[in-house]
Amino acid sequence: MANNQQLTTNNIIGIIGSGAMGAGIAQVAATAGHNVIVYDNNQTALDKAKANLDSTLKKLVEKQKLTDEKAKSILANTQFANDLNQFKNCGLIIEAIVENIDVKQKLFSDLEVIVSADCILATNTSSLSIASIASACKKAERVIGIHFFNPAPLMPLVEIIPGILTDNTVTENSKKIIDSWGKVTVLTKDTPGFIVNRVARSFYGESIRIYEEGMADFATIDWALKTYGGFKMGPFELMDFIGNDINYKVTESVWTQFFFEPRFKPSLTQKRLYEAKLFGRKSGRGYYNYAESVAMPQPKQDEELGKYIFNRVITMLINEAIDSLYLQLATKEDLDLAMTKGVNYPKGLLKWADEIGLKNVYTSLDVLYELYNEDRYRPSILLKMMVRDEKKFYT
Ligand code: NAI
Repeated sequence: MANNQQLTTNNIIGIIGSGAMGAGIAQVAATAGHNVIVYDNNQTALDKAKANLDSTLKKLVEKQKLTDEKAKSILANTQFANDLNQFKNCGLIIEAIVENIDVKQKLFSDLEVIVSADCILATNTSSLSIASIASACKKAERVIGIHFFNPAPLMPLVEIIPGILTDNTVTENSKKIIDSWGKVTVLTKDTPGFIVNRVARSFYGESIRIYEEGMADFATIDWALKTYGGFKMGPFELMDFIGNDINYKVTESVWTQFFFEPRFKPSLTQKRLYEAKLFGRKSGRGYYNYAESVAMPQPKQDEELGKYIFNRVITMLINEAIDSLYLQLATKEDLDLAMTKGVNYPKGLLKWADEIGLKNVYTSLDVLYELYNEDRYRPSILLKMMVRDEKKFYT
């Protein structure tokens, strides 16, 4: 059978694209002891990645997070190539180039004629389907999604996404090798946003909705979710940190790919920020103004309002996690791990649902559904059934 080899540190890892993600993934693989080859079709980007790796490792040595010897071995393990033919002996190649289906398909079909029969071809895409990328290959069964989070050396979560034609051994081998790099892997289906970028949508979307309805301002909503939910950052702080260009695009892509599902509907509020180039921290202004001369707005610390805001957002997040379980996107354990390790939520959403009480979650949703008469607030069938049967997710 094809692709039944076990991947070990003897395998050479190929990384294509030396931008934010590719450079980070290369560092992770080289730190795990692999020989790594990094390629980019832009020599400047490749030179920059090389210089960045050098300075990152120096900083880690200064901070005593890495020995000098280890830093030297990581550098010695990492080769920067300007020719795809150098990838012919790789056991696994992870693509992290521009998010464009035509460019990715062309790369995958070019790669297939260079690499060995056993080489696994992985994509780090955030929004394209694995099936569509794999369709460019004659051996679609060797293609898989391996989705890291930014920055790859620091974020523990990696989503493993087999496509419709991916061979089981390719999935197992991919999971094993990424686990051996010290990452937390979750297995998920080839559906828009995979786990994290789908389930997290309500954190942003419902918060914006609350703002648009005039119930509270950004600072108050952020305060409510940090105070009553224990989130490290509020939704508006987080969107400004991620960048409203990226966050808006992800929302629009998930919504469109789910055939305009109302739960994922983007907001005009964020679209206008995006159009006005108010991207957040990186542009100096987003929901907040980061100019030194401007004071940060203060929240209205109203307990009743704060609890209402938290309850409405957590209810929507939990409903999405439950519906994802119902549609077998992942196991309940992986769904919970994804949100705690991929976006630092204080608890897994299904565990949180048990704590709040499924009946309470259902009642909150039902009140919203009755009030708005919008499909956005319809409770998941699994939630309904579990309330009926008085079940919990964990015992
Ligand atoms: P980036 O723009 O920082 O880097 C992309 C690199 O790919 C550039 O250096 C570019 O020169 C190179 N490139 C473009 N076309 C190429 C080609 N045909 N052959 C070789 N190199 C080529 O992008 P970033 O942020 O690193 O994203 C890369 C991939 O990772 C995308 O698919 C993105 O959706 C995904 N991703 C991004 C995350 C993020 O937070 N930035 C998180 C998780 C996934």
